[in-house]
Amino acid sequence: MADNLIPLLTNNGASIPSLGYGTMEYPEPDRASDLIAHSLKSGYRHIDTARKYGSEEWVGQGIRSSGVLRDDIWVTTKVTEDNASADDFARSVELSLNTMKLDYVNLLLIHWPSRTVPLEETLGALVKAKRDGYAKNIGVSNFTVDLIEKAVNICSEPLFTNQIEYHAYINQDKVINACHKHNIIISCHVPLCRGKVLDDPMLNKIGQLYEKSAAQVALRWLVQQKNVAIVPRALEYSEIEENMNIFDFHLTNSEMDNISKLREKNYRVVNPEVRRPVWD
Ligand SMILES: NC(=O)c1ccc[n+]([C@@H]2O[C@H](COP(=O)([O-])OP(=O)(O)OC[C@H]3O[C@@H](n4cnc5c(N)ncnc54)[C@H](OP(=O)(O)O)[C@@H]3O)[C@@H](O)[C@H]2O)c1
Repeated sequence: MADNLIPLLTNNGASIPSLGYGTMEYPEPDRASDLIAHSLKSGYRHIDTARKYGSEEWVGQGIRSSGVLRDDIWVTTKVTEDNASADDFARSVELSLNTMKLDYVNLLLIHWPSRTVPLEETLGALVKAKRDGYAKNIGVSNFTVDLIEKAVNICSEPLFTNQIEYHAYINQDKVINACHKHNIIISCHVPLCRGKVLDDPMLNKIGQLYEKSAAQVALRWLVQQKNVAIVPRALEYSEIEENMNIFDFHLTNSEMDNISKLREKNYRVVNPEVRRPVWD
């Protein structure tokens, strides 16, 4: 990895930048690869995509046009629950790599647990993708405590991360503790609660003390926790850069605790009925 301002989190010998750029839903697709390239030119070295997002092609284009070396970038993609069977899983990984025009991803995730395919089969396919050289690291997403315990027991390779919804408006202590127990990094999706935390009076007040925005305080609160990485999405150059400038200030313990109290709202924004597990 090239030197940059973003701290790395290391697990099983691999280091992921604790800030990545999320690429879900681009309302103006013609700007997508440009925004991804801009994130890399600004110093991001971690891109989060998924087969489901439809952004893999732009991720590949953005990487190539950024001028940043492939080996200096951490790329995560995911296989949907529709492709949980072994054959479908392998085809999905191949399609992801072909679409991005990459030889490998740094991290391959099971996007959501499947309700129909046994976890053993999907985890077997995930491990195979790693052993075949298509993924340097493997992990899961939207897994609960129960699913993490099952996965750790079944999987013959270490799980690098569990990508879950986590922000200042949701308490995820149970699943986070399970991940800590098994040395699994937490990757936070929707770290800004899709923008809902931006008007929060406390986050804005704390931000004024440090000349930071509510978004920066919300993101700082996350990365200041143990083994936590974040993948915010932004569609403006200025916001992409703003979200990176969170490593030059430090929240006090009392500010951390006060923000943690906001989690009592327990506001879950990613909760699709068709694929959600029974949450903790
Ligand atoms: N594993 C999963 O199941 C899963 C599920 C959901 C998401 N994800 C990943 O997580 C990423 C982030 O989630 P998300 O995009 O849904 O939500 P998010 O990052 O919590 O919030 C994005 C929203 O915040 C706004 N925003 C970002 N930075 C800002 C700033 N500095 N100031 C003001 N507004 C700002 C964005 O505005 P604009 O974009 O309009 O500029 C957008 O409306 C996704 O892109 C995806 O990679 C994974």
